[in-house]
Amino acid sequence: MCGIVGYVGERNAAPILMKGLEKLEYRGYDSAGIAVHDGKNVNIYKAKGRLKVLEERYPPSEVAGVLGIGHTRWATHGEPSELNSHPHVSGRIAVVHNGIIENYQRLKPWLEEKGFNFISETDTEVAAHLVNHFYEGNLLRALKKAVALLEGSFALGVLSADYPDTLVAVRKASPLIVGIGDNENFIASDIPAILEHTRKVYLLDDGDMVVLKKNDVRLYNSLGERIRKEIFHVTWDADMAEKGGWAHFMVKEINETPKVLHDTLLPRIDENGRFSLSEISGFAAMAGGLRRLFIIGCGTAYNAAMMGKYFIERTARIPVEVDYASEFRYRKPLIGRGDACIVISQSGETADTLAAMREAKKRGARVVAITNVVGSSVAREADEVFYTWAGPEIAVASTKAYSAQLMALFIIGTELAFRVGGIDEEQYSAMLSALIKIPEQVQRVLDNVARIQQVAAERFNAKNVFYIGRGMDCPLSMESALKLKEICYTHAEAFAAGELKHGPLALLERGTLVVSLMTEEALIDKTISNMIECRTRSAYILGIAMEGNIKAVETSDECIMIPRTMDCFAPMLAAVAAQLFAYYVAVQKGLDVDKPRNLAKSVTVE
Ligand code: M6R
Repeated sequence: MCGIVGYVGERNAAPILMKGLEKLEYRGYDSAGIAVHDGKNVNIYKAKGRLKVLEERYPPSEVAGVLGIGHTRWATHGEPSELNSHPHVSGRIAVVHNGIIENYQRLKPWLEEKGFNFISETDTEVAAHLVNHFYEGNLLRALKKAVALLEGSFALGVLSADYPDTLVAVRKASPLIVGIGDNENFIASDIPAILEHTRKVYLLDDGDMVVLKKNDVRLYNSLGERIRKEIFHVTWDADMAEKGGWAHFMVKEINETPKVLHDTLLPRIDENGRFSLSEISGFAAMAGGLRRLFIIGCGTAYNAAMMGKYFIERTARIPVEVDYASEFRYRKPLIGRGDACIVISQSGETADTLAAMREAKKRGARVVAITNVVGSSVAREADEVFYTWAGPEIAVASTKAYSAQLMALFIIGTELAFRVGGIDEEQYSAMLSALIKIPEQVQRVLDNVARIQQVAAERFNAKNVFYIGRGMDCPLSMESALKLKEICYTHAEAFAAGELKHGPLALLERGTLVVSLMTEEALIDKTISNMIECRTRSAYILGIAMEGNIKAVETSDECIMIPRTMDCFAPMLAAVAAQLFAYYVAVQKGLDVDKPRNLAKSVTVE
């Protein structure tokens, strides 16, 4: 979780490092630091708190040097403090690290015996001392030896005071890319950090090491052998990773949903007007004989997976098991040959998801990734990839990527259903036509923002919020509640509406806000009974329903209307309304919407 960046070139390193860290702050933001080589020495600048504290304390324009590394931290080992923040120094070596060194407690006494003095509580300091221990003037050799002893996940950027022109780095199970510029080169945890300077990158594989000078990039494998790689050309531009006039990334990203859905859907419709699963042809070929389908993810991706289950079981009649990746990886799952597993991850770097995916592969299942990041670990390790073309998602709370995940699942599910005879030609065409209309219908939800803003302004003080729904509104409730928890710090729970009377009703009191999702019109009467049970106990009911649903309007205190579509696709519209509601509640509360407390965007540690 943490973001690292490095620069070597002819320009002043500090402003480039700080700018890069700004783009990586979504990965962690409890402290930050940089190390800059001024030609003689490596100077360290660190501060607890957001990056702006560091920038204010050490204005980047006043820091001299054309080589440096930087770090923005999400604390794992040791509280957020200046001492625990990176870079960590040992002798002439400075190190930034993203990931977790799992065997640091074993290495620490061994290094102490050798005379190294530990001053922080971090696992990273072990890496700094280890490189120093093996350092005899050759930085790459020292790094290689250190890496051989380190267990866990890490991307490391390393400088030596002896080399004012050289930066070395390594990647193992934590993301790291190399940016190639003119007379300058970069490393970073993620592309947005360097996009302002170059769109040419190398995507490092596990174990890869790199030695960077301003005019030279040398890549090595874990054995220390020189390797060559294709340059990856980034197609999106820096603007997509900027706020572009919006108050927050989150609201910008929600407003990008129509485009994202359009981009995810249209390339999958072939010249005959049918869905094409050519990217995942191996999986598609299994359709007829598929024993079982597993869908795995964490957080929002899990909630999308759950939606996929409802949809695929309903239309294709194939049994679908959904799991939290963190559970799947350890529960000895009954998955094997003849099964397929869809792994969902926006970042493609979530540690639990990666481990779960490896488990599924090891047991013989065919693995398809639905991910947003080209070249991510999940994308590279899956048998086949179905990309969500959502562009960079910076806000910690996932919005447009979730919508794109739903679209991906609906495309795959509809095609699967047709292939196995779960739906006929007429139903297939109707579903395809309905999906084509969704982007424009999402735009109409966005155009209704004033109404949502108003309800948020009236209700933002609610202490407890229930999200209820039946059928596909049930996983939608889970995702909607997660948004409110994450960015509003409001206690929000999702309940299958029918479950309320089996316990949760006891929690209901005057003023409890109940958000009732009512896109499953076949079940509307049942949900309405549950709403009435809540109203008679003095709850305030906010409904979200399709236009023309009079019963929903009558039973709610306030009802947000979304355009009419097939029930099974309506969650894509209702999700956007729920995301906007959470966003405006957080704004009303004056919270840091894009960087909620205690969270980070990519959870690359267990
Ligand atoms: O990158 P991933 O999709 O694998 O991330 C999974 C979760 O960490 C993520 O969805 C998280 O729950 C978001 N903060 C939700 O908004």
